[in-house]
Amino acid sequence: MNDVKKYTIAVLGGDGTGPEVVNEGKKVLAAAGKKHNIGFDFEEFDFGGERYIKTGETLPEGAVEKLKEFKAIYLGAIGHPDVAPGILELGILLNLRFALDQYINLRPVKLYPGVDCPLKDKKPEDIDFIVVRENTGDLYAGHGGVTRKGSAHEVATQVMVYDRQMIDRCLEYSFKLAVERKKEGKPGKLTLVHKTNVLTFVGDLWFRAFMEMSEKYPEVQTDYNHVDAACMWMVKNPEWYDVIVTGNMFGDIITDLGAMVQGGMGIAAGGNINPEGTSMFEPIGGSAPKYTGMNIINPLAAIEAARMMLKHLGEAQAAKAIEKAVSFACTKINSLSAGKMGFSTSEIGDMIAGHILDN
Ligand code: IPM
Ligand code: MN
Repeated sequence: MNDVKKYTIAVLGGDGTGPEVVNEGKKVLAAAGKKHNIGFDFEEFDFGGERYIKTGETLPEGAVEKLKEFKAIYLGAIGHPDVAPGILELGILLNLRFALDQYINLRPVKLYPGVDCPLKDKKPEDIDFIVVRENTGDLYAGHGGVTRKGSAHEVATQVMVYDRQMIDRCLEYSFKLAVERKKEGKPGKLTLVHKTNVLTFVGDLWFRAFMEMSEKYPEVQTDYNHVDAACMWMVKNPEWYDVIVTGNMFGDIITDLGAMVQGGMGIAAGGNINPEGTSMFEPIGGSAPKYTGMNIINPLAAIEAARMMLKHLGEAQAAKAIEKAVSFACTKINSLSAGKMGFSTSEIGDMIAGHILDN
């Protein structure tokens, strides 16, 4: 009772339905905190489309330094219909991932009981894997350029950038995660996904680094898939996967596929992790502007992001309580889609918070 552990979380509600879903996440965190003796203070930041329209700033000066004071950031959504595509994504989301060196993008793909899976005959026990997407390099690194712009001979390049150290730190995180999952009774298998048959420089670097590191982790079963084949197997045999590690671009693509396999964006969450610094947790769907303020968007993805945040902070029991409550909610709701859930946004938050408090 007396020893309440305190966390101060930076909250970036962001655009569209972001603030609504984050509110439900905060409600759930408060319930988990109450039950497990954890206190949360939330410090709100108004970064997003509205602020950009008013001030012309994506992240104001000093924002990154300020955010570095927090161990965790809870992000709603970034994206505004009146702001040209790319400005907010690059200026806020990608900027923070890079500036805070959040080199891991962790994306669980887990089918909860009661959720409609688009894959025929697949059950929750068949779909429980996690993708480690490298989050700082690759085609996202901004190397490249354009010459002869506007002419018929315009040349554009965008380079897949990796160095060995970036790959090694990502692989190390992935092997350790596989070891951890093995301890939890999961297979403890790590699959590298790349495209070594074509990307004979970058793919080869990943592959050699992977094979080398695998010797340090004999307890981890390893496998390799080309990314195109991985897209087939994720649909046909998702039960083959436990932990997948891949580069930034392939990781972006396959985790959207993963989100659909687990029932849709309504429940897909991710963590942008700097194991030594500030990490940021987010629902991976967008800001859904057309549903803003209607109290019909599904908050489960944001609640899942809160669960990942707790797990990252070392609060495994509280995270487990959220997982159980999400599992319960999934058996009660009609659908994961906005407006079709049979419950409002806040009712789902209440249901989950209530389940945590009552169990
Ligand atoms: C994601 C998104 C971002 C990405 C966009 C919005 C820049 O698609 O988080 O997966 O490409 O990483
Ligand atoms: Mn994406």
